[in-house]
Formats: sequence, structure tokens, C-alpha cells
Amino acid sequence: AALSHVMGAYAVGVMSLGAPECLVVAKRGAGSVVLGLGAGETFVASDVPALLPYTRDVIVLEDDDVAVISAAGAALSSLDGHPVAREPARIAWDAAMAEKGHYPHFMLKEIYEQPRAIADTFRGRVSIDDGDVMLPELADASGVTDVDRVVLVACGTAYHAAMLGRAMVERFAGLPAEVELASEFRYRDAVVGARTLVIAVSQSGETADTIGAVKAARAKGCPVIAVTNVMGSALAREATAVVSMQAGPEIGVASTKAFVTMLVALYLFGLWLGRERGALTPRDIAKSVADLVEVPALVEKALEVEAAMAALAREVATARSVLYLGRGHQHAIALEGALKLKEISYIHAEGYAGGEMKHGPIALVTDGLPVVALAPRDGAYDRMAGNIEEVRARGARVIAVTNAGDDRVAATADVVVEVPATAELLAPLVTVVPLQFLAYHVAVGLGRDVDRPRNLAKSVTVE
Ligand code: M6R
Repeated sequence: AALSHVMGAYAVGVMSLGAPECLVVAKRGAGSVVLGLGAGETFVASDVPALLPYTRDVIVLEDDDVAVISAAGAALSSLDGHPVAREPARIAWDAAMAEKGHYPHFMLKEIYEQPRAIADTFRGRVSIDDGDVMLPELADASGVTDVDRVVLVACGTAYHAAMLGRAMVERFAGLPAEVELASEFRYRDAVVGARTLVIAVSQSGETADTIGAVKAARAKGCPVIAVTNVMGSALAREATAVVSMQAGPEIGVASTKAFVTMLVALYLFGLWLGRERGALTPRDIAKSVADLVEVPALVEKALEVEAAMAALAREVATARSVLYLGRGHQHAIALEGALKLKEISYIHAEGYAGGEMKHGPIALVTDGLPVVALAPRDGAYDRMAGNIEEVRARGARVIAVTNAGDDRVAATADVVVEVPATAELLAPLVTVVPLQFLAYHVAVGLGRDVDRPRNLAKSVTVE
């Protein structure tokens, strides 16, 4: 009764001395409430991982749900007292997946889980024999293929994944695509409608800005695909259909395995959309599928750079500022590498498109400035090699991420980090790995709280 007078967002649990055997929980807007259903016991938590040691059967409350919890179970109703039926979901993760194991930090564990998480995300969704992609979850997604353009919305690391998702949609589906920060899109009167497909990318599915952007898009009639790690999340419920990532629980605030699995989910969706719209030949699809299934082994190989990045981190930890440069698909990785370093080490870092250097940032280059340059052998390689020469000539200390056997960049850079080569659209899944290790080891070296950096939350459920 009291909650019917409450304005705004809340997630509450209430006990009364008069009824000590039960707990009343309710939620609206920001924040999540998850019920765990055990045998003769019932749990309440704000997120699924907390429940996993006790049960994998959960109910995620929706806005204006009220649940009366007792050892026998949960009785759900709406705020105005009408009974509500919600099917429990069975969580595929187990408690061990939400624990650190022998790793000192969740972030390091999650970096090492990437080959498995990538494979889990495409497993059962591609057929190597048929050279095809299957996303049965989209069978009933109405209006998703009949569109003229695509807008991707996301925040933080998910935004960087969305930048690459744009390239995948353009390449595979031949549709014009844009990418926008969800926090901007939601407050802009964007010109979108039923023929604009919105793809919202969010690990947690609870990011307030991304949900706000989706609500704004839905109000204008856009079909919405959610790419998320949490089925049953607020974002998943708002969307027309969901393409899940199978990262497993990501606990470290710095997103790592969620990033690479977002890329896999977007790649699969791009291929599916291209096939449905007749924009790809069976041969194109078969080749793209074959490239994808190689990626877990290539990322596994890239994990071997950890010791080299740990050594390099000792030097980078003394820097006041670090510049990350990339072009084409590697621009998003430059932004992602800089974000990782800032958020967990608190060292200032900037990610830039190499071609923008001459338009301002080159003035920042002084003797000894660490510049992390992403230079795999792709269509932007020669121009990137030129950027490396430019900054090197001005005294920068260049750490170049390249593919094995590279001569030109290796001859110019101060430090060369080699990772395996792969198809251009998939190269970001490999080149991001050394940057994750670099941020991690700089932060550890500086004694930072790697998994819980200051001022940050894992899910940003407020504006
Ligand atoms: O759960 P989401 O993917 O929506 O989260 C978006 C951002 O808050 C998140 O990626 C944030 O930038 C990470 N801390 C980056 O490591």
C-alpha cells in the first residue's frame, strides 16, 4: 500500500516483526531483484551470481511486481494486488563460474576465459558442414529484416563493441548503419521509425541509459534487437528479440570477456541479417563461419603475451598519460584499450583514430610518451605504419601490436607485441588481448583495486 504512493525507482525488501516468517520485496525502474527458489528455502538478491551457491532456479522481478517470500516459495502479485504468474528461469552458469578459482582477480580470470566464452557464444549457432548460421531465437522477430537502416546504441565498452557491430552490419547486410552513445540517443529526437532497426548492446542488460534509448526507440516504432549476457534482464524484456552472448558471469568491473562475446553475437547477427536479406552468397557465409570458428584458438595463442605485457606494464605505470592509436576496425580497440587503462589504473589515456593525429593530438607527443599502436595486417596497415613513423619521429615510445612476421612496423616501433592474424572483422577479438593484460598489470603494479575501481559500479543502473 505504501509503495503505491512512492515516486521514482526503487528495489526494496521489507520485514515486519508481526510476520517474521516472510519478507516482502518489490521493484520499479533501476535496480534488479532476483528471487532464488531452493528446496524449503527462498532467496532474494540484486543479481544472479549471489544466488548460484544455493540455487540456479530464479525469477527476475519486473516493474511493479510485489513478492511475498517464505521458505515455501514466492507469491507474486502486482502493486494493486492482482496475482502475477512468472515462470522461473534455470541459469546455465554454476557457482564455480562466478568464483575466482586460482586467479588473484576476476579480471584476470575473465581474460583467460575468453577462448571458452567465444566458443560458447557461437556453439550451436553455426554449422561448419553446411557453412551456415542459425539463430532460431529470431524466428518470430517481426519487422527486424524489413528495414532501411540500423542504429546501434550502447555505453562504455559495449559502445566500442557496437562500433564494430556497425562494420559487421554494413559488410554482411549491406545496410547503412550508425552507432550512438545510448546516453545521447535517448535525449535526442532521433529520426527513426519502423524501418530503423535498433541494436542495443549491454552485458548486464540493466544499464539505465541503454534501456532509456531502447524505450525511446520503441516509442517511435523501431524493432529492437538486444545483445546481452543476461536473459531476463530489463533490456531483454524491452526488446523485440534477444541475441544472447554466452560470456557467463562477468564480475570484474572492467569488461573483458563480455566485449569479445558481444563481437561474436554481433557477427552472428550480421551474418543472419545478410542471409535473410539476400545480401550474402552461401560462399560468403561459409567463409565467414570458417573464420569465426578459428578465433578461440587464435585468442588462446594471444594469451601467451601476458608475461611480455606484465614486463611492459612496469614502464607504462610510470607514465602520466598514454596514447592509443588505431585505424579502421582497430580504432574501436584503441578506444577500448584506453578505457581499460583509465578505469583500473587511473592513468590518463586517450584513444584516437590514427588519421586524426594531425588534427590536434600530435601536439601532445613529447619525448617518451607511450603510444600503443594497433597495426595488424589489414586494409589500414600502411597508413597506420605512417602514423607510427610520425609519432616516433617526435620522440614517442611506440608499443606496436602487430601480426607475426611483420617487418615494416617492427623496424620502427620500440616494442613489438605479436598476435596471430585473422580475418579483418575478427582481428579486434585478438588485438584487444594484449591491451587488457597491459591495463591489468599496470593497475596491479600501482596497487589499485582491479576488480572494484573507485567511483565505478559493474552495472550503471542510474543516469
Ligand atoms: O552492462 P553494460 O554492457 O551495459 O555496461 C556498459 C558500461 O557501463 C561498461 O561497459 C563499462 O564501460 C565497463 N566498466 C568498461 O570496462
